[in-house]
Amino acid sequence: MKYKTIRGTRDILPAEISQWQDAENAARELFKRYGYSEIRTPVMEETGLFIKSVGEDTDIVKKEMFSFRDRGERDISLRPEGTAPIVRAYLENNLVNLNPFQKLYYIGPMFRAERPQAGRLRQFHQVGIEAIGSNSPALDAEVIIVMAGLLDSFGVKNYTMKLNNLGCADDKKKLSKSLKELFSKKEVASLLCDDCKRRAATNPLRVLDCKIESCKVVVRKYFKEVEFLCADCKKHFDDVLKFLDLVKIKYAVDPYIVRGLDYYTRTVFEASCGSLGAQNAVGAGGRYDNLISDMGGPVTGACGFAVGIDRALIAAGKVPGETGGAKVDVFVAPLGEEAYKKAFLVLADLRASGISCDIDYESRSLKSQMRSADKLKARFVLIIGDDEIKKGEAALRNMQTKEQVCVSFDKLAAAINGKIE
Ligand code: HAM
Repeated sequence: MKYKTIRGTRDILPAEISQWQDAENAARELFKRYGYSEIRTPVMEETGLFIKSVGEDTDIVKKEMFSFRDRGERDISLRPEGTAPIVRAYLENNLVNLNPFQKLYYIGPMFRAERPQAGRLRQFHQVGIEAIGSNSPALDAEVIIVMAGLLDSFGVKNYTMKLNNLGCADDKKKLSKSLKELFSKKEVASLLCDDCKRRAATNPLRVLDCKIESCKVVVRKYFKEVEFLCADCKKHFDDVLKFLDLVKIKYAVDPYIVRGLDYYTRTVFEASCGSLGAQNAVGAGGRYDNLISDMGGPVTGACGFAVGIDRALIAAGKVPGETGGAKVDVFVAPLGEEAYKKAFLVLADLRASGISCDIDYESRSLKSQMRSADKLKARFVLIIGDDEIKKGEAALRNMQTKEQVCVSFDKLAAAINGKIE
């Protein structure tokens, strides 16, 4: 019997790993420029953390978490997202006492039991930031600017940054109440999809971003009439837009962006890419001003985003490399048993001097060793035969120019380092 990856999970193979490493390195470099520090939290958390933060009535918590009871009868879930664990870590580790304003970033796998399709996985990877401890609209703008910078550095083009203002908790309640009334009208309710019929009572805001066409039609026809934002929330959002205009970030205000997580307040945003098809959100985020206090911390604002790396690489048109695998500076090709021993020593010396090199483990002919060198895209081949050992030197061949020179064993590392710098 052959084992296979679990549905909705995938291997990231050597041929594509450099794209992931490049993306992660670009993210780290960008976040450093904005003053963010990395945080790593466990992939498992108490299930209650997500019920409390993401929300009991959300699709993520209701249908998509990988939850189980462990041997100690504890309810545990694989993390479906990174914000709640980071807020938990911020409070549990008293980061608030070190500095109440914290800028944190994370890169790692998340888990959601969604129906797998192109760009939608059960284990996917997010890179994100959470800035905790400020209510300033300049922070919302900066978080959006960082996300735009990240998408740029990944090579994602042609995306639309959509923004909306959900208002504070009171505004959301007001909106929720009017939507409940609206969706309970017979003529409106009858047009909603089955999911939205249920949402209309439990989480009516989610109806606003339902992807089903008939629901979109209902929302666009009736929703305009609802006015729910307080003056402070209106001003906050206007200020966010002013900051974005200052640095010429392109965006579109879209009143139907509500996001699938309950903790959001005020600014929410989503970057979507037409080329991705149905799963078109490459990244998203927003402000969550009540989450810290709801979880037992101080009353303080926070804002963040997460970009899906799997999706961003698809959106950037990245395809696995042709050959992939390791690339080495030098391929050492010994001819014969004595030469192999010498080559083994040379290999250790070169590696200790910082030169990447490899050898053929099967002691094959020079011709097949040259083929291996080509496969590894070696820049130099170092040929060691009995003659060379007698003379105390090796033949160093430049694979591009085909030029070959003899170099004494004790000068090899210096000679190669001089050529590859
Ligand atoms: P989210 O919108 O649920 O937000 O996820 C953010 C991004 O993760 C999505 O835009 C998408 O690129 C990627 N993603 C989500 N689900 C999948 C999936 N099943 N397969 C592949 N990619 C996926 C959050 O998770 C929030 N925690 C973002 C945030 C941070 N808000 C504030 N701070």
